[in-house]
This record gives sequence, structure tokens and C-alpha cells, in this order.
Amino acid sequence: MSYPRRKFRYICLVIIALWFGDTAQAESAVASAHPAATLAGKEILEAGGNAFDAAIAVAAALAVVEPYSSGIGGGGFFLLHSQREGTNLFVDAREEAPGKATADMYLDSSGDFVRDRSLNGPLAAAIPGLPAGLVYLSENFANLTLQENLMPAIRLAKEGFLTGDRYEKMAGYRASALRLHKDAAKIFLDQGDVPKAGFRVIQEDLAETLQAIAVSNGESFYSGDLARKMVDSVVSKGGIWRIEDLKNYEVKIRQPLISSYHDVKIISSPPPSSGGIALIEALNILERYDLKKYERDTYIHLVVEAMRRAYRDRADYLGDPDFVKVPLKKLSSKMHADLLASSISDTEATSSSSLPQIGSRQKGADTTHFSIVDGLGNRVAATLSINIPFGAAITAEGTGVLLNNEMDDFSAKPFTPNTYGLVGADANAIAPRKRPLSSMTPTFLEGTDRIAVMGTPGGSRIISMVLISALDFMMGAGPIEMVSSKRFHHQYLPDQIYFEKDGLTSSEQESLSKKGHKLKESGRNYGNMQVIVIDKADGSIDAASDPRGEGSSLVW
Ligand code: GLY
Repeated sequence: MSYPRRKFRYICLVIIALWFGDTAQAESAVASAHPAATLAGKEILEAGGNAFDAAIAVAAALAVVEPYSSGIGGGGFFLLHSQREGTNLFVDAREEAPGKATADMYLDSSGDFVRDRSLNGPLAAAIPGLPAGLVYLSENFANLTLQENLMPAIRLAKEGFLTGDRYEKMAGYRASALRLHKDAAKIFLDQGDVPKAGFRVIQEDLAETLQAIAVSNGESFYSGDLARKMVDSVVSKGGIWRIEDLKNYEVKIRQPLISSYHDVKIISSPPPSSGGIALIEALNILERYDLKKYERDTYIHLVVEAMRRAYRDRADYLGDPDFVKVPLKKLSSKMHADLLASSISDTEATSSSSLPQIGSRQKGADTTHFSIVDGLGNRVAATLSINIPFGAAITAEGTGVLLNNEMDDFSAKPFTPNTYGLVGADANAIAPRKRPLSSMTPTFLEGTDRIAVMGTPGGSRIISMVLISALDFMMGAGPIEMVSSKRFHHQYLPDQIYFEKDGLTSSEQESLSKKGHKLKESGRNYGNMQVIVIDKADGSIDAASDPRGEGSSLVW
């Protein structure tokens, strides 16, 4: 596979740089899931902002124009690279369980899990982290003010945006939950109906909320007027938020996980994301194979077996590291990968039930991603979420803040699957102020000649998508090939290969069935990956937005 080297543009840049001295900058790029958010990032970079300013603008714009994917009432992870310091940092702005949350809060009197409570309405909502994440970026990394960076989003909320096919699909999926809550229905539906493409969504309350966050530097949201309004609204609807839950919220700054796959350095997400560790485990297993020598059906088989083992460990070991001891060193070691790889056969599927059962040691899906690179070489890969489309389908009245249902990412009952079919044991049990385990995997790949800034939404399938495209990158793929890779997935349980529409050819399906794999085809495509690739030799940049979505990428 080869990727386009845009030598001509680079030569022009060098000529301009020589002509104008050091005023000429290298290229910048933004790739996000919505053209209006990509433009917001470009506007801020052109106004003198850096990648971190642009990240604030893009995240806030996505909160407005993709209300089904992420938002001010949600949270997320920002993986940052500061070129000047030469450092990588992980900003954990994940939502947190309210102080009154209990391990059995979604079980009925017979001890059965009541999924509706963890997905819909006020009990499903964890304490939002995104506003605190934006304030952190603003205070520590930005060139421009928070007000300047939030301006494009405030404009989009006030003037409205036109819905597209994706909005129609997502709102259709969540219409019955939205209809139960008048305030949310009024904002996101068209008089109770799913808006057809071309409908203008105006969010005046959200514009005021963003403005209040800008002028108070987030204080209003976490301890002022907005905080009181949100708590009153959640409590009046039967929720358990308290003002101290918001006051106590803070972003956690964590060290990214670092590993390698041959000569490519992997920089990815630490817990409470499960993404980085599962990605590293799978790559460590696959490093033992000369993957280029296999036919595609055996290649897929081996990748699936690596996924199966990495997702098993996810279910068994991972949770919020501030609450449970996660054996990161062991899980990311090459020795652990050797042990896991030793049970893989080239010709036969392992049955998940033959692997050690989780807990035996005892003890959508939506979301969004964007990637940004600025002319100085700073990078941001951010994956943000409110969990399933339109989150808990309720807004905090009078604020326009749509609340997440990230509580469903906890393991509400051991071995009982969550909405993504993921099971977990004690490590991811609900506890007050704990952060639910996530699959969000913003990642940098640093090869000898190229760097990738990448990530995608997609619930439990985020990790397998990042893995497949990372492997493609290792084999020379560029951004457009990476976002277009055919997707297949195995998450240990259920014991099956799930693949997107047309993700496997019929002969691949036949061969994998013969090896003993169970297969399940999705009726649709999934994922919405955003990738930027920097060529280290000439500084040129290439970017792509997943053709399955309606996002856009710009390089200039
Ligand atoms: N809510 C999806 C995730 O964090 O994995």
C-alpha cells in the first residue's frame, strides 16, 4: 500500500518560508465528525490559536451540532502533544458517578438489572466533565481566551444549524425516549416528530450556558447558577445529583500509555479508558506474527484472536484506576502477550469459554472524535461522549444541557452485559465518584517516517477499529485508507465475529467459519474515524474523515 506524498505542496511551503523568513508556518489540519466543527477549528487556528485552542472550539461546536454524540452534559478524553515541551499528556474529563450512586442502583427488588434506568432519564446521568476539560485546556495551553474559543459554538447554538441524514437517523433511534421529556423534545424534535434533513435546530439556552461558562471560566457550571439549575432539574425528575457532586468534579491529568509495535511508538489512553491497554495487548500479541505473509482470511483470524484475549482482560481487570488497582505493567508486557499468544492456533478459533472465566481471580452507539495538528507540531486527539445517541434523552431544564447516560458504562451487575454487550466484574462496579470504564481510544502512532493522530466513536467497537486502522498504518496506509478500512470485531463475549456490512467477503466468511468462528453481520456500517498523518521528512500533512459519517477534514 502506498500513501500520497504531497511533495509539490511542501516545496511551495519551503519556498514561501525562505521568502518570508520565519513567518511562514507548516501545515495545519482538522478532521472532525461535522463540517461546522471542522470550520470552527480552522477559524480559531487562523485567528492565532494553537491546536489546543482549536480543540476547545471543535469540542464545543460538536456539542452543539452533534447533540447525539457528545456535549457539555457529557465528557471525554483529550490526548495532547505539546511540541515545545516534547511531552504527551492525557486529560481525563470523563463523567463521574454522583456521590449518592450505589453498586445496586439499577437492580430491582429481585436483583435483576433494569436497563431502562441506566440508559434513560435522570438516574442514567453521571456528573459531566467536558466543561472542566475545556477550562483546563484554556488555562494551561491556550493562546486565545475561553470566550474567543467558545464563540463559534455560541454562534452555532444561537443561529442554529441544519440537520442532516445522520441527525435524522440518530433522532429516530431515540425519539421515543426524547418524547418522554418535554424540554428535550422541544429542542431536538420537530413538534414531537423526528426532524427531516434540513431542519434548523436552534439552542438559545445552550448558547447562554456556553456564554456563562466562558465568562465564569466554568464556575457557573460547577458551583454557580447553572449548577443549581441542573441539580434542581435532575432532582425534580427523580435523579440523585447534589451540588457538591458538581463542586467536587475535577479533570484528572494522567500519563498516556506508551508501548511499541516493531519500530512504531504507540501513545494511547490509560484507564479509565480500556482502549489503550487493550490496543497495546492486541498489538503485542500480533507483533509475534509476520502478518504480511498471511492471506487476508488468516490475518483476520489472528487479529480476531488477539481482540478476543485483549477484550477478555478488559472485562476482568479494568476499571477506574483511582478505585481499583489495574495491573498495567503486567497487561502491557510483552511477556503477558507471549502467554496469551501461546494458545492461538493459526487454523482454529479459540472458544471464549475455554479462556479463564472473568472474575475467576475473584475478586454506539455514539460518541465523537476529532484530530487536530497545528503549524507548530502540536497535536490533539480527542474522543468525547454522552454515551448512546442523545445520552439520557433529558436536558437540565432552562440550560439546554443534554445529559449523558454514561452510568451504563459501569458494570451494573457482574457478568450482565451493558448496552454494548460488554461484561465486567468488580473492577468496573458502580461506586460514588468513580468513573465508568470507557472504550474511547484517542491515539498517536509515531513511526520512523510518519505520525498518525487518530480515534473514532463506536462504543465497545472503538478499540477494534483503532486496532485495525493502526495495523493498516503500520503497513503503510494513509488517512483515507485508515478511515475506510473494512471493520470486523470480537469482544470476547458474545463469542462471535461481528462485522460491518460488506466488512468480510463471502470467501473470508467461509474460511473463518471453517476455522470455527461464529459470524454476525451488521446490517450497516459503523464507526466515524478521523485521522491526520504527518510526514516527518517533509512536514506535509494528510487528513481524512470517515466516509461512513458526514464529517470533514481540512488541511491548509
Ligand atoms: N460511552 C462509550 C465509552 O466511553 O466507551
